[in-house]
Amino acid sequence: MDYQFPEGFLWGGASSGPQSEGGSTEGDRVMSEWDYWFSKEPERFYRQVGPSVTSDFYHKYPEYIEKMKAAGVKSYRTSIQWSRVIRDCDGTVNEDGIQFYNQVIDELIRNGIEPMMCLHHFDLPLYWVEKGGFENRETAYAFARFAAVCFGRFGDRVKYWTTFNEPVIIPETGYLYQRHYPAVCDAGKAAAVGYHVQLASSLAVAEFRKSGCDGKIGIIINLTPTYCENPEKAEDRRAAEILDLIFNRSFLDPSVKGEYPVELKELLEAEGILPEVSEGDREMIRENTVDYLGVNYYHPRRAKARTTVYEGPLMPEKYYEPYEFEGQKMNTSRGWEIYEPAIYDIAMNLKENYGNIPWYISENGMGIQDEEQFMGADGMVEDDYRIEFIKEHLTYLHKAIEEGCNCFGYHLWSPFDCWSWTNAYKNRYGLLRVDIYDGCKITMKKSAHWFRKLSENNGF
Ligand code: FCB
Repeated sequence: MDYQFPEGFLWGGASSGPQSEGGSTEGDRVMSEWDYWFSKEPERFYRQVGPSVTSDFYHKYPEYIEKMKAAGVKSYRTSIQWSRVIRDCDGTVNEDGIQFYNQVIDELIRNGIEPMMCLHHFDLPLYWVEKGGFENRETAYAFARFAAVCFGRFGDRVKYWTTFNEPVIIPETGYLYQRHYPAVCDAGKAAAVGYHVQLASSLAVAEFRKSGCDGKIGIIINLTPTYCENPEKAEDRRAAEILDLIFNRSFLDPSVKGEYPVELKELLEAEGILPEVSEGDREMIRENTVDYLGVNYYHPRRAKARTTVYEGPLMPEKYYEPYEFEGQKMNTSRGWEIYEPAIYDIAMNLKENYGNIPWYISENGMGIQDEEQFMGADGMVEDDYRIEFIKEHLTYLHKAIEEGCNCFGYHLWSPFDCWSWTNAYKNRYGLLRVDIYDGCKITMKKSAHWFRKLSENNGF
């Protein structure tokens, strides 16, 4: 064994409620922003496959859990859909939704899989969307009330909680890059939304502490380490620093340190988009930092100073230009760079600048288009590229752990093929293949067999 991991290391996988469950109208669930958007603009979704299809986890969860176990998954993170559990703005609890998640949690535990629950995975219920979503401060308080219901109902069995998955995606893709609802481009709104999401997270952490639950509360942040083309050049360093402030430190600092970076405040102030802060907010954020972090890592960012004048609406592009270099590795299905050493850089940054907070890789993975082309004669997907991808990332994680970083697990996105927002089923990420056009038949890929050994041996 070349790479042995610490005892009790969590080998597992992640998915989310909206991306796996389907059953979108069952158990009296109400619409989320995704159901609504799909009903209005199905053409935005790859092959017009919407959130009501997904992988049918709602009906097939016992089989999924059994097969995840066979693939060596020891811990599973998914999310509780607000729209399944709470019926309306008044906070009326939907007992059918509670019952569904109770069954899932119990089934996971029965199979020796640690349940880890996230409370928001880009899926606001429509009744809050109609009130302005996170542009409206009220939504943050409503989120905390929903969180309190979940802690009360599931907190006796769930020990690992997270408030948000990739909070920065909410302002980034909804209010700048127009890939999620409401698909507008407005930096002022983006800043306000980002602030209210952070407030919502801190309020939920406060609820968790009040609940007295015996567990830990964290947040899942997608970190995109930022590198500049020429570290000797002050303008290049500055371009990378600004991207880091916007995309990484905007949630990392308040969640872990309890305060925003001064440089970020200065930047927003200079642009005239500093969000309105109410009395008591600062204390709320300062006093309710997280116990641990989930880190989603897919790709780095490459920045150099702009060489041309930026015209157009206020966007991060105002401050930088991306650069490419010879030998840069790409996942062409996704258009994402593959850069494994960034895992080590993330780990060292958390160790040196964030008090060595406990953390785990909550997502890392390889999305592949038309994966059936790799299917062997026996129908098994021979995904050696996925095995290599995982190994290469783990090599850097191992090095960081040897050097004292506080990482307690690795979760693959995803244990099974699932729905990816407007990309729907374009890219497959799973250890388990899901045939969505054939009754969601579930089969092991080669990587599932490999992952099982990885998890059994606690290394490779
Ligand atoms: C991440 C999201 C997750 C999934 C993967 C591919 O950014 O958290 O929902 O779509 O990307």
